[in-house]
Amino acid sequence: MNILGIETSCDETAAAVIMEDTTLASSVVASQTEIHHRYGGVVPELASRKHIEAIVPVVDESLAKADLSLKNIDAIAVTRGPGLVGALLVGFSFAKACAYALEIPWVGVNHLEGHINSVFLEPDPPSFPFVALLVSGGHTGIYHVTSHMSAELMGQTRDDAAGEAFDKVAKMLDLGYPGGGVIDRISRSGDPAKIKFPRTYLDKSEFDFSFSGIKTAVHRYIMNHKDHLKDQMPDIAAGFQEAVMDVLCYKAIRAAMAKGCERIALVGGVAANSRLREKLRSDARRQGICVHIPSLHLCGDNAAMIAVVGYHYLNAGVVSGMQDDVYSKSR
Ligand code: KG4
Ligand code: ZN
Repeated sequence: MNILGIETSCDETAAAVIMEDTTLASSVVASQTEIHHRYGGVVPELASRKHIEAIVPVVDESLAKADLSLKNIDAIAVTRGPGLVGALLVGFSFAKACAYALEIPWVGVNHLEGHINSVFLEPDPPSFPFVALLVSGGHTGIYHVTSHMSAELMGQTRDDAAGEAFDKVAKMLDLGYPGGGVIDRISRSGDPAKIKFPRTYLDKSEFDFSFSGIKTAVHRYIMNHKDHLKDQMPDIAAGFQEAVMDVLCYKAIRAAMAKGCERIALVGGVAANSRLREKLRSDARRQGICVHIPSLHLCGDNAAMIAVVGYHYLNAGVVSGMQDDVYSKSR
């Protein structure tokens, strides 16, 4: 079975092909970062328009890279939500139309389930059950994952997502959008212990997060140190990053221990963070917990992860119909 995956939930137009047993044949991601950069965040209307321009070339490229044509595709998996409705509609309508014209099954997939399943595109994936720490620009949560299609939410952010906090702090420091990668990079030359930002654990025995406090603390620090900001940039970035990572790692490991899981999957755009990858691995190892993290190209939004979830849904007989629509919020 060859499955075409399509993802357009935010500012990446992506298509991928997976083959029987979820082998990745191709994955193409066209990023719109350049367009949104100057606005300091994603402009939904511009995102939708760019998806319309990009969807056909991106799908064509993914098929060419897999050495296939549309007539070799047996089914389509497409992101249904959560995300920007206008952006989602481009991929969703495209998938619907293709499936109708080709007379093949198709299935709408939850974007977050996609991120969680991204670890299955790597060799030696985790066995069930495991705990997933999902950290992206739109979501931050901890899940108890018992199968490809079932993940129980154990806790989530009450305000900003971790990636959103990175993007906002980068904006305060004039580092551009998206800011996660830049903060990661400049933190390497900073001292994470020099400026102590607050860690918000909320109830330590629960798994919810809050990142608005640290964002405000960084803002206040910047306002009070305007004159020497340039020299302090690496220390501010490193101090902020360390505070966020301390909380993420603490809660993910506690969650795994609470569920008796020996495996954690770290997924989502922020899983690309070098400090988080290193810290979660070493903190978890001390508790006898093994951490699975996808390669960098599978951390950010991509269609391969959507195709993997689609594969399992289709195998279980779950398909979508013409009446189905996208959704903006998590369900
Ligand atoms: O999963 P993703 O591509 O899109 C959403 O579903 O939201 O995540 C994008 C987020 C952005 O907030 C971006 O700043 C963050 O991931 N990000 C990072 C890094 N690379 C991307 N955050 C921290 N460190 C990184 N290296
Ligand atoms: Zn995402």
